[in-house]
Amino acid sequence: MNQTGVKIAAVAHYAPARIVTNEDLTRWLDTSDEWITSRTGMKRRHWAAPGQATSDLAIAAARRLLEQTNCDPNEVDCYIVATCTADYPFPATACIVASKLGAKGKAAFDIEIACSGFIYGLTVASSLIRSGVYRRIVLIGAETLSKIVNKGDRGTAILFGDGAGAVLLEATQEDSFLSADLGSDGSRPEILLVEAGGSRRATDAAAIAANAHLIHMAGREVFKFAVNKMISATGRALEKAHLTKSDVDFLIPHQANKRIIDAAAKYLGMPPEKVVCNIHEYGNTSAASIPIALSESVEQGRIAPGNVIVFVGFGGGLSWGAVAWRWQALASEGR
Ligand code: UT7
Repeated sequence: MNQTGVKIAAVAHYAPARIVTNEDLTRWLDTSDEWITSRTGMKRRHWAAPGQATSDLAIAAARRLLEQTNCDPNEVDCYIVATCTADYPFPATACIVASKLGAKGKAAFDIEIACSGFIYGLTVASSLIRSGVYRRIVLIGAETLSKIVNKGDRGTAILFGDGAGAVLLEATQEDSFLSADLGSDGSRPEILLVEAGGSRRATDAAAIAANAHLIHMAGREVFKFAVNKMISATGRALEKAHLTKSDVDFLIPHQANKRIIDAAAKYLGMPPEKVVCNIHEYGNTSAASIPIALSESVEQGRIAPGNVIVFVGFGGGLSWGAVAWRWQALASEGR
């Protein structure tokens, strides 16, 4: 097989219309705008409508993506959706997305590694292109976490939002993919999990009464893990790419907590203008947070060809990963 390069040819995002502010949350939770802002950096998040599923958000983002490049959905070889809030336990959400976009027959699969989903997805999709298996892949991070959050638990209800971010990856001569560092530790799944609804525990009446079908998180433990892994994964990805911290133009981290991002950025010596953070607007959208942040940065004209970006994520699994990436001109910008 031919070895080729890969680039992000287009990027787009979509968030549901309903915005839930910190003030809104105080109507039913014992919390305050001051607590949420100071502890997380979040001000608003988007929540999907009752009938709106993850594939609906993914499709909206993918349509915007393909429109930008006038790309027919059938010219895409493979659709990948990174999500931990799939439409169904099976079939894969990506199959529904591809068919509804009009690309019935194309390869499609989901990646479920919670908040690290986009990082793992970017690594897998890039590898499929670089090895010559496919020439064009749509990778979407999409979540409807509002459907699995315990709205009565102030420790988690305030954190999560819904949205989708999508990238079109294309084969090209130059290579944007510089390195990846992925990892996991499944020894203590209880730190961050949805216990019921899989093969270990059914979603029966007892499970529902115990809220076992909703997100449980040991916040402080996850916080410490997140800061550590953001730092170590970024360091290893840079090392593998033979780069140093000073070569990095932008750090685009998973948006879980502004304090996590700030602590890791400080340790890494990254000034705020190099660190992308839109957590105030979206909260934590798990696998969707990095591509949404990338899409907004590109819309704002912040990122230029040649820039080195480190994407870094962490979350349930526990899992983590970082990808070092050299930005190239979008398809709409030409060469
Ligand atoms: O993407 C997946 C990865 N997830 C994460 O990375 C999340 C990581 N964890 C966090 O971001 C933080 O741990 C939280 C934002 C979840 C919590 O912040 P914290 O500073 O770690 O607070 P805490 O859990 O230690 O709680 C401190 C206090 C407690 O009260 P007492 O026991 O000190 O009286 C909580 O009950 O704050 C209380 N508290 C709240 N108060 C007002 C917890 N949630 C709230 C709230 N409003 N929403």
